[in-house]
Amino acid sequence: PPHVDRLRALPKAEVHAHLEGCFESSVLEQWATQARVLMPRPRECLFEFEGLADFLRFLDWACGLASTRERLAELSYGYSKRLADGGAGYADVIVNPAHWPAWHGRLPDMIDAIDAGLTAAEQDGLPPVSLCVSLLRTQSSDAAAELVDTLVALRHPRVAALSIDGNEAASGRTGPRFTEAFRRAGAAGLRRTVHAGESSGPEGVWDAIELLGADRIDHGVRAIEDPELVGLLVDRQIPLGICPTSNLTLGVYRSIEDHPIDRLRRSGVAVSINTDDPVLLGASLVGEYALCSKAFDWSDDDLRSLARNSIDASFANADVKARLT
Ligand code: ADE
Ligand code: ZN
Repeated sequence: PPHVDRLRALPKAEVHAHLEGCFESSVLEQWATQARVLMPRPRECLFEFEGLADFLRFLDWACGLASTRERLAELSYGYSKRLADGGAGYADVIVNPAHWPAWHGRLPDMIDAIDAGLTAAEQDGLPPVSLCVSLLRTQSSDAAAELVDTLVALRHPRVAALSIDGNEAASGRTGPRFTEAFRRAGAAGLRRTVHAGESSGPEGVWDAIELLGADRIDHGVRAIEDPELVGLLVDRQIPLGICPTSNLTLGVYRSIEDHPIDRLRRSGVAVSINTDDPVLLGASLVGEYALCSKAFDWSDDDLRSLARNSIDASFANADVKARLT
């Protein structure tokens, strides 16, 4: 298998990672102690999750502790640092305001705090990061409209996209509920990225494309169950931001050998490799490339082309993309 240094050196971006997934356990423990808040479970198994629903509850707890501008800025800076450690030159990062109760009603302040951390990182020579501000699948269409109103009024240069994440299985088919919000976001010049085909089957990916106008799909792996859908992803070259370790840890597939990333790639789908929630799930970008490379016996050319996909799939502007390749 290729050496870690060679994987690090591949020109690449990350297009599917959540700010909510970047808390260090020692930091959470310290913040919880200061706030006199109970840990949800003992520190030895703090990052052991029983599936997506349990994981999302944990995010609410962890984000609840990040109540100050400094904490949010530090978390954001830390993400950019980790990105550089993995040899990536750019990222689109998802942040979901619904997980952050301390910031409810203050989205512009929240984005400003994150922006401060990311700007400091860039000033220190770390890679640029854009934000994908996310809805949660369990929200209402009114909440979705309100988020889009705020983003459109704000027009913050750090915000590249509207996103939607969370548990698709919790409330049945929800594409129609979010169609109007995504249409308006697109009309206002925001890009669109949609979690689908992780906690939903192929039908969630169909809705992401046909109802939500997705420029990119987060996960999308269960598209493999529908050959017609795979054909559509190939024809339109709609990229999938795939996170192998996340899919194993949160129970979408039992082993890396069962994971469809290589079958999707061989079918001509524009797949990229990502960490999802790097610290909470213990995934590093280089580690994800190494895991797949070993399991699927990828050549140097395969790896270069996968890394290239991540840059092409990103919402970086043309200048940044040119610098990356
Ligand atoms: N939020 C953070 N990680 C997520 C995932 N893997 N699926 C859905 N929502 C998420
Ligand atoms: Zn995700």
